[in-house]
Amino acid sequence: MERQTQQSGAGGLVDRFGRRVSYLRLSVTDRCNFRCVYCMPEEGVALRPSRELLSYEEIERVVGALAACGVERVRVTGGEPLVRKELPRLIARLNAIPGIREVVMTTNGTLLRRDAAALREAGLRSVTVSVDSLNAARFAQITRGGDLGRVLDGIDAAEEAGLSVRINTVVVRGVNDDELLELAGRALRRRWLLRFIEFMPIGAETIWSDLPRGGCVPAAEIRAVLGARWRLRELGMTTGAGPARYLNLDGPDVPSGDGPGVRHVGIISAVTECFCSACNRIRLTPQGGLRACLADDRETSLRDLMRGGASDQELRAAVRRALGAKEETHDFDIDGAQVTRKQMVSIGG
Ligand code: GTP
Ligand code: 5AD
Ligand code: SF4
Repeated sequence: MERQTQQSGAGGLVDRFGRRVSYLRLSVTDRCNFRCVYCMPEEGVALRPSRELLSYEEIERVVGALAACGVERVRVTGGEPLVRKELPRLIARLNAIPGIREVVMTTNGTLLRRDAAALREAGLRSVTVSVDSLNAARFAQITRGGDLGRVLDGIDAAEEAGLSVRINTVVVRGVNDDELLELAGRALRRRWLLRFIEFMPIGAETIWSDLPRGGCVPAAEIRAVLGARWRLRELGMTTGAGPARYLNLDGPDVPSGDGPGVRHVGIISAVTECFCSACNRIRLTPQGGLRACLADDRETSLRDLMRGGASDQELRAAVRRALGAKEETHDFDIDGAQVTRKQMVSIGG
């Protein structure tokens, strides 16, 4: 009897290892106006016809069905989410869904000057902007043509609009690992919540396989670099709902005050200090493929189910089945090959 209730009702989403899903990473497009060397090949990825994408109405329906079983937080990702038309309209609709407590977004920042105010108005609270270098020439190299000045201006626009700002820096050996102190120093002064990310072997044909040990700079090494300049205190996964572990920094150039971003730097370490046991998330691709894990290519097409007339209950049952097959952990063999066929840009990070 209880089993039946679990299968058909709107109880919580819990996997075989007792991990509860409360967070959805929602990728709204696999287009991007950058071509970051670690995220997609130079020529971009094959774009799919727009009828293959979930419409905003379909996205709203899936998020509503998931919110009814415990999903509270949605992170909108891409590709670059702001290249999808009228994104603020979607943000407002997601915010209005009962049970959804927070909608946030990860972006490359290029279109924030245009959209920040509309996003804030639509109820967005926070943006995470990817900044891998503060050197304009290097930034252009990493992003294959991106304009650092425009991204920094986008960050200013986000702050002016009242959005809180997080910064993601993927650390790649020999590419930007000499900039950790400068990036952390700028983040402390500007009160951006910065997270250094270990480079993960996601997607075929990225630079991973060309670099010794994949170019991954281990979290312990990042801590050692920061520790040589500041006094560090480990805070664990205290800020935000994601996998970053935060450090409190004390010492020269550290401004006083409280709140996220003030004195804190995070490290996201999926390779050398795996956080799978704390996983709280599922992912939806732009085509409506539900992924139980970033590192596992198995997808359940919620789009096909919806377009075939499935009820919300049937959608939830499909999500539970996918979650039932979720592995305990991923295997990012640091010397091995990429773990997924799909590029990061098509999964949404
Ligand atoms: P917060 O809500 O701010 O804590 O966000 P977040 O860390 O979930 O999101 P963000 O989009 O900033 O992602 C930062 C990095 O963490 C990206 O490189 C993601 O790919 C990576 N990441 C996020 N979730 C997972 C996960 O479940 N597994 C792995 N391996 N990496 C993840
Ligand atoms: N490893 C780690 N982080 C990555 N990102 C993209 N590709 C990788 C990778 N291979 C980051 C982007 C963005 C976030 C969503 O994922 O820089 O900040
Ligand atoms: Fe969870 Fe998969 Fe991410 Fe590991 S890679 S933390 S199992 S989603």
